[in-house]
Amino acid sequence: MPTNIFAHRGASGHAPENTMAAFELAYRQGADGIETDVHLTKDNIPVLMHDEQVNRTTNGAGYIKDYSLKQLKQLDAGSWFSSAFADSKILSLDEFLTWIRHKALYLNIELKNNKIDYTNLETIIYNRLAHYGLLHRSILSTFNPNSMMRLKKAETDTETALLISRRFKHKKLITYALDLEASAVHIKYRHLRQRLVDRIHQKQLAVRVFTVNELNHMVRCFSMGCDAIFTDYPEAAVQSRRQF
Ligand code: G3P
Ligand code: CA
Repeated sequence: MPTNIFAHRGASGHAPENTMAAFELAYRQGADGIETDVHLTKDNIPVLMHDEQVNRTTNGAGYIKDYSLKQLKQLDAGSWFSSAFADSKILSLDEFLTWIRHKALYLNIELKNNKIDYTNLETIIYNRLAHYGLLHRSILSTFNPNSMMRLKKAETDTETALLISRRFKHKKLITYALDLEASAVHIKYRHLRQRLVDRIHQKQLAVRVFTVNELNHMVRCFSMGCDAIFTDYPEAAVQSRRQF
């Protein structure tokens, strides 16, 4: 199976991350899927942003959890990247799902609940995916083991992936993922080893790698048989996979 290419926060190397401009571009560039990050607003609405705070990627300040969706919509989510994107807005999960539902794209929704463990985030996301008929082509991922356990309580065919950022002994990492009933492990590129990929595959789990932006790193993932990469440059990855 060829390695799938997920646009990391959209085509975030060329457009402001987690905005419609970045998602549209990733789609046009031929990505197989979109990776995005979800937090909850003050009014419990899931929105797409990487950080807990709006400071880095908007002209606002403070925590997402202290804003209503209406207030977040006033912010400029594009100028920090380039003045050409000054009209970019923070997206709700619903806007994203409405956009993606009729496109042949996989979705990886990362629950950003490793610093703030948002109440009912798992249920809210499952409900939205069910509403749009997207449970079957979504992957839900998190660094938070408690959230993984909550995700597994829902009886759906949605994939759940354990995100790992630190170095683990291979056996320990696999036991950790199996204990949490993950269907995949998402690892950092720097921890990628052929032996690890093979051992994870032996347990019937998928291996996906983040964040892979260098061409030689992409090729290494393809040759090791990784199931997917997350990249800020989906166009380059698609071209590189074609030549591989
Ligand atoms: O889901 C892979 C990757 O996005 C996890 O790290 O910090 O880019 O959200 P981060
Ligand atoms: Ca992410």
